[in-house]
Amino acid sequence: MREGAPMQQPRDSQRFDEVSTTGVAVVGSGLAGLTAALGLADYGVTLVTKTQLGAGSASAWAQGGLAAAVGADDSPERHAADTLAVADGLADPAVVELLTRQAPERVRFLLGLGAELDRDADRALALGREAGHSRRRILHAHGDGTGAELVRVLAAAVRRRGDIALAERSFALDLVTAAGRVAGLVLRRADGARVLLRCGAVVLATGGCGRLYARTTNPPELTGDGLALAARAGVRLADLEFVQFHPTALDSGCDPLALLTEALRGEGALVIDERGRRFLVDAHPAAELAPRDVVARAIWRVQQRGGRAFLDATGALGERLAARFPTVFELCRREGLDPRREPLPISPAAHYHIGGIAVDARGRSSLPGLWAAGENACTGAHGANRLASNSLLEAVVIAGRVAEDVASQLPLGRAAPPTLSESSRLGAAPPSAAEAETVAALRDLMWQHVGLLRDEAGLTRALHGIAALARGLGPGEGEAHNLLVVAQLVTAAALARRESRGVHFRADFPAHVEGAAFHSTMIGRTVEAARQRVA
Ligand code: SIN
Repeated sequence: MREGAPMQQPRDSQRFDEVSTTGVAVVGSGLAGLTAALGLADYGVTLVTKTQLGAGSASAWAQGGLAAAVGADDSPERHAADTLAVADGLADPAVVELLTRQAPERVRFLLGLGAELDRDADRALALGREAGHSRRRILHAHGDGTGAELVRVLAAAVRRRGDIALAERSFALDLVTAAGRVAGLVLRRADGARVLLRCGAVVLATGGCGRLYARTTNPPELTGDGLALAARAGVRLADLEFVQFHPTALDSGCDPLALLTEALRGEGALVIDERGRRFLVDAHPAAELAPRDVVARAIWRVQQRGGRAFLDATGALGERLAARFPTVFELCRREGLDPRREPLPISPAAHYHIGGIAVDARGRSSLPGLWAAGENACTGAHGANRLASNSLLEAVVIAGRVAEDVASQLPLGRAAPPTLSESSRLGAAPPSAAEAETVAALRDLMWQHVGLLRDEAGLTRALHGIAALARGLGPGEGEAHNLLVVAQLVTAAALARRESRGVHFRADFPAHVEGAAFHSTMIGRTVEAARQRVA
């Protein structure tokens, strides 16, 4: 912070129970947050997480893999072409080129940390294929436990360093700015204490906002915190309407729904309705291997007519399923289902937020001193539709670049790791009854009106509903309030995009807008979407 510049306190001017100083604060402990923290370990970094290191992130739940062109018949150019083809005109070719070119090096980085990636009989990296990829290029760990393995090695590396300060069970409330740039971060510890963490740089890596929807594959912690925090600080956000729904979540009534990885369909599992009919054959020539959004909408339509959809892996995998997909097998068994012997009930579910804090290829946001990486960032890599297994890749590539960029602006070893007091390790405070009720109503509203098929009447109803829920809950801070902010932004962006593109489908505007594709951008919390044409 510049000497003498007045510090802008967030919301009400507040007193702090503790004030601490760090070089840089990284918020979030998924793949992106861990990678950024590790890269910044020499610069006095504090890793802030509302859970515990390695827990509560979507990364750790990722069953799909990490895409990298490491096969003999593959190249970064092919990987880039596949990514652009799926992105429906909105991906940034320069970012896609960077991502796909850096992928092999990032794989070496992860292997160097000890990641146990699956190998074939010759000990070469085993390469899987998923929808939209023209080559076998998906790296997995322990079959369908890729995310957990990558988080495991990164979290272990963070702990080994010993000089990365951990603020666990600490909730990032607001950015503090001075003279137009980041000057700190306000945290609320689980014991209610408010901590001012003074720092010149903040990296947001809080993941997505799957909790917005009644049906989601995301852990409950995914409440759009980074997005809400950035919105409150007037930071530019982009393409928020693009929420990717996974077609095959296990429809067993649990919350969140267990993911049934699309690799199951890659291995021949079939999607059928309650009469055993393969209805995807009528929806797309590629049937089960059609793009994810097409499959998800076809299943949604079956549900809307009162039918049910199932994923049948009994013929294609049968007994092999338990060894090939141990995570899926275990999740099904927990719900009392045996995927080797019976078709599994499925539903689409909110899975990945493509939009987010608008950043460049170094992860820089519109606010000096604020960087973002991972799902809460929008780099333009995914455009309007994300290719499977590109998100873990994006998290490690962009977070690595963020670390380099932040480091280039910080003096080496400037800040000793801060000493956040031990009470930061207390358990997280549960939501109040009013907050829990509001979130439940919000999730239903979003699922019904801001989900797979949208139209003006439903989106308008949702905006009114969100405003009413916000009024009912009143002022405050925390996950419920963050969800309300993000719900409003996603819905407003969806209303403003009067076309269908990628994962955003408007029943009242089923085609692309004529002419060039455009990004929608929002500044802070304004609901007016500006349009930025794609060159
Ligand atoms: C899946 O395994 O189906 C999900 C992979 C992804 O979302 O990239």
